[in-house]
Amino acid sequence: MPIAFDERRKIFKLDAAGSSYLIGIHEDRYLAHLYYGAYIPDDNLTDFARRREYASFSASDPDRKDPSFSPDTCPFEIGGSGTADMRIASVAIRNADGNDVTDFRYVSHRIFDGKPALPGLPSLYEETPGDCRTLEILTRDDTTHAECVLRYTAYEKYPAITRSLTLKNGSGKTMEIERAMSLCLDMNSADFDLVTLYGRHNQERNFTRRPLSHGLQGIASRRGSSSHQQNPFLALISRGGGEDHGEAYGFNLVYSANFLGEIEVDYNESARVILGINPDDFGWRLAPGEEFTAPEAVMVFSAEGLGGMSRAFHRLYNHNLIRGAWKTKKRPLLVNNWEGTGMRFDDEKLYAIAKWAAETGIEMFVMDDGWFGRRDDDTSSLGDWFVDEKKFRHGLGAFIDRVTALGLKFGIWFEPEMISPDSDLFRAHPDWAIGVPDRKRSEGRQQYVLDMTRKDVRDYIFERMKDILGNNDVSYLKWDFNRNVTEPGSALLPPEKQKEFYHRYILGTYELMGRIVDAFPGLLVENCSGGGGRYDPGMLAFSPQIWCSDNTDALSRVDIQFGSSLCYPASVQGAHVSASRRSSYETKRNVAMWGSFGYELDPEKIREEDRAAIREQIADYHKYYDLIHRGDLYRLICPWDDPYKCAWEFVSEDKTEALATVLVKFRTEGRNFFLRLKGLDPDKTYVFEENGEEYSGALLMNAGINLFGMPNEDGYSKTLHFTASR
Ligand code: DGJ
Repeated sequence: MPIAFDERRKIFKLDAAGSSYLIGIHEDRYLAHLYYGAYIPDDNLTDFARRREYASFSASDPDRKDPSFSPDTCPFEIGGSGTADMRIASVAIRNADGNDVTDFRYVSHRIFDGKPALPGLPSLYEETPGDCRTLEILTRDDTTHAECVLRYTAYEKYPAITRSLTLKNGSGKTMEIERAMSLCLDMNSADFDLVTLYGRHNQERNFTRRPLSHGLQGIASRRGSSSHQQNPFLALISRGGGEDHGEAYGFNLVYSANFLGEIEVDYNESARVILGINPDDFGWRLAPGEEFTAPEAVMVFSAEGLGGMSRAFHRLYNHNLIRGAWKTKKRPLLVNNWEGTGMRFDDEKLYAIAKWAAETGIEMFVMDDGWFGRRDDDTSSLGDWFVDEKKFRHGLGAFIDRVTALGLKFGIWFEPEMISPDSDLFRAHPDWAIGVPDRKRSEGRQQYVLDMTRKDVRDYIFERMKDILGNNDVSYLKWDFNRNVTEPGSALLPPEKQKEFYHRYILGTYELMGRIVDAFPGLLVENCSGGGGRYDPGMLAFSPQIWCSDNTDALSRVDIQFGSSLCYPASVQGAHVSASRRSSYETKRNVAMWGSFGYELDPEKIREEDRAAIREQIADYHKYYDLIHRGDLYRLICPWDDPYKCAWEFVSEDKTEALATVLVKFRTEGRNFFLRLKGLDPDKTYVFEENGEEYSGALLMNAGINLFGMPNEDGYSKTLHFTASR
């Protein structure tokens, strides 16, 4: 049973595939955190919330039963505010008296099979009956009558626990939530390194690792989206731990807007981890009886280092986050015209690309930005979702008919949340753009952001999208988002609710995405935000793939893919071969195959010899599709460990097939190179496709393949394919 309550000890024990998480109802009904780590069979941890002795400045209740107890040292599941717990708060509610002292204590709990959806928010779900179980703990602040329901779901097949919370105003007066962090975890030690993914446009999700040190450290976004700059992911790995060993704890927020992930190492050498909506510029008014649910945080534990943690995230997301028709259905191999033509195209130019695609074996043509309004460059027309008749002289429907007559599916680009100052929509509804009174709006890519908190705005955009998607044979939608939010404010929100703006914005976006997905259940949606600016699990609940980066240069993109793989599976990673960048087609393909593969080019610019290579690549894409989309990823040589070369490998779940890829980023002199595989069955015999030789799994993992003869050239790459013969 993955969740149990020990009545005698007053301890909850959550077990999730090799991991355990224990919570105790402690002194004075505090909810204490007792343990999180590798599976333990028993729960005798009653004294784990006790610390050696509280420091002289540690305050506590004068009537406490245990004289050594102080909230200053006890590990908690909720970090209160303004109390004797002096660490970073996870919740803070300003009450009608004007103070924000918040102190939740245990009231009751319930344990049940399955997992409830969160109102208005994306979240993981129960894939098959009984694959997860939920614990809800009701806590209350006895003074203010605010309530907090903590919700934990433990997954049977994966070492994962998700957590969310709902705050409720149980008093007769309005309160204001100032902080509602989804995760609050007091680790029993601070002996960890912190791993996070930082970046920028064109270079997202760079791996960085630093030792935890006393005080605060962390990650945040205040950009209105989860952002290119920091991903809402962080991991703790035990000092000296690495890819294959050490205790790794991964945390990811199912949210696509402003977030904060922070760790405080205190004077007791404990580390408090919080993750949730960024409290900067956030507030939420709760009238009597009202509730507020914070987004879900995902926790994954692995005793097999960062590699084990990543594989657990990948399986969990493939099974319990991604949904809809395209969850398991094979994704079409696509060509997108963006890098080939930009916005300068007409129907004949696009048809030429589609024709080449059909002749080459590509399955879908995706028409990117530039098909609507007067959009010949990025200075106008966002919001005017009407087909540009100069570009499509016979109408969009007729063009799509020609494309589908080639045997291709058709996909289309939208940027639904945006509005150009130079657009008919803005001229008609200037108040639909986000902004605040008497202040000039900042422009980003010469565009404004629509006020997605407004239902009238969402209804209008939905109708325009429905018109295009519903009246044409469209199989795929690329949903883009190309700037940050500034001057956050809505013309419809009263002043006291303007702090709710950012969160209401993303709730509005989720609502619109949900409406589109529900109205067009067969549509494949690919999210995008100038590449990977909203590469987060919130978006994955609506779209099973996300365009990973606008950087399609294989040699630098490979780093982005390595970083992304820390918690996001290959199946979600939109990855294309483009013509305009350096490296051979072989290397471009080898990198792009690590994802939902496609092309992004103008076929006119492809050399004759490369055309034939592309046909072969397509055959390989089909050959390895299941292995890459459903197999387990092993990072063999990471760019953060070796600047010269990198290697990765997919192994089928039954361990009968493996595909390893090696990429030389920079030539080096005189180095041995034995590529040691991982994740194979040591007792199986594998045939190496390249030479027909047989090797045991044990040999391949321990001795490896000697790659001494491999060309030592910048940008050279090769794949090594193994299948089990017995
Ligand atoms: C940014 C995306 O990342 C690109 O792929 C492309 O769709 C452009 N936007 C179009 O404006």
